[in-house]
Amino acid sequence: MDDRLTTQTREAEPDEAIISPSGVARSPATGPKVYVRTFGCQMNVYDSERMTEALSAHGYAETGAVEDADLVILNTCHIREKAAEKVYSDLGRIRQVKGARAASGSDTVVAVVGCVAQAEGSEIVRRAPVVDLVVGPQSYHRLPELIARTRSENRSLVETEFPEEEKFARLPQRAPSRGVTAFLTVQEGCDKFCTFCVVPYTRGMEYSRSVADIEHEARALVAGGVREVTLLGQNVNGYHGAGPEGRSYSLADLIRHLAQIDGLERLRYTTSHPRDMSDDLIAAHGTEKKLMPYLHLPFQSGADRILAAMNRKHTAREYIDLVGRIRAAQPELALSTDVIVGFPGETEAEFADTLSVFAEVGFAAAYSFKYSPRPGTPAEKLSDQIPDEVKADRLARLQSVIERQQALFSQRCVGRALPVLFEKPGRRPGQLIGRSPYLQSVHAKAPAGMLGRVVPVEISAFGPNSLAGVIRPE
Ligand code: SAH
Ligand code: SF4
Ligand code: F3S
Repeated sequence: MDDRLTTQTREAEPDEAIISPSGVARSPATGPKVYVRTFGCQMNVYDSERMTEALSAHGYAETGAVEDADLVILNTCHIREKAAEKVYSDLGRIRQVKGARAASGSDTVVAVVGCVAQAEGSEIVRRAPVVDLVVGPQSYHRLPELIARTRSENRSLVETEFPEEEKFARLPQRAPSRGVTAFLTVQEGCDKFCTFCVVPYTRGMEYSRSVADIEHEARALVAGGVREVTLLGQNVNGYHGAGPEGRSYSLADLIRHLAQIDGLERLRYTTSHPRDMSDDLIAAHGTEKKLMPYLHLPFQSGADRILAAMNRKHTAREYIDLVGRIRAAQPELALSTDVIVGFPGETEAEFADTLSVFAEVGFAAAYSFKYSPRPGTPAEKLSDQIPDEVKADRLARLQSVIERQQALFSQRCVGRALPVLFEKPGRRPGQLIGRSPYLQSVHAKAPAGMLGRVVPVEISAFGPNSLAGVIRPE
């Protein structure tokens, strides 16, 4: 963990490495094996799942041991410098593994995919010649073909076009699910061009999948045992996909549509931009029972001058008023947010404005980051960059506020009966772990038969990362 506060949410946090969950159909012990390491946001987690499923259709079985892997995939994140640099430290280790495998006669293909691949392209092969394939986020459906080509042509290949063909149409159907909750990407790319952010360059322009396509995938997930779906997009509330009657559907329309699927108990969506919180989406928080009362709504800074320099296109007051309107529609709503400290030119008084928004809104969770200058973004060229010690000091002060707010929110849950969707066995025998509506991890003594069910749990205690509770006899 570096400059980020851990929270109780299960969101894949930028910079965090996640080993892709297993559960893909096993191929014979002799078949090829793939090792996937995922960095970055939930959309990368989703992409890694789709990639492993596509490769499993080509006979690959997933392994958690890089030494056993015939194919090593690093699915990368470019959002901050630290996230991007981690890839190169991993590649150093992988070079040794590839060397050792070669000495014992085994071939290894190394692929760098995702946002660093898109941003740096052939530079990656130059810096790390161990890499055989560089594949951008819009081209990973072509992995099986590219693997065959790099082998037969015996050279490194770089594929970072934004292709005409639609990746989702080329990927195989979702494999039977591995769990109770799932991510589902409904929108990709971003046209907002916040001045600090690489996403519009790494993921391209906004694109929304069709409602029929999403519904099809959601039904397949539910048939495989999924009870909660989180709709994903870099700018998910800007969703505008082709609807069944030929008219364009908003995110609220999509949520209402998916809520009709029997067996799907819970819906969430992330990440939203304040400018795209439309009235119908706000209203859906009050009317759609399956939509969880939890919203991740980044505000980045509490100072209007900084918000303007970031190109966020709203003021601090507009954000606070917006939160008021969403809470009026759904009084149970809990909020989380993202904040950047030390954007170029940020004064101490402007940092204090960020703390004021925390005091006024009250967040259940928050992710905070030191501003990281990113190549090719407008903010990188601003002259008044803030020294690292100042950023570190502001981050520490902000994180103590966040910790307090988070603890206060958890404390307020004690004594309440929260509906918990049980997801997996707990660490102790006889225990299950699930999620509250607010994404808190909750553990309770419960029979295994309650896995996949939503059960009221009376919360009895809280810790820094989870709640404990008791199931009352029905
Ligand atoms: N699409 C989402 C989030 C994108 S990245 C949104 O618009 O909110 C996730 C978070 O990383 C951002 O919300 C922002 O807080 C942070 N971030 C993005 N670029 C950054 C940078 N250059 N330095 C520090 N933090 C950054
Ligand atoms: Fe980046 Fe801004 Fe787009 Fe979010 S809205 S992905 S922060 S450019
Ligand atoms: Fe990182 Fe790309 Fe996601 S830059 S945060 S993996 S969209």
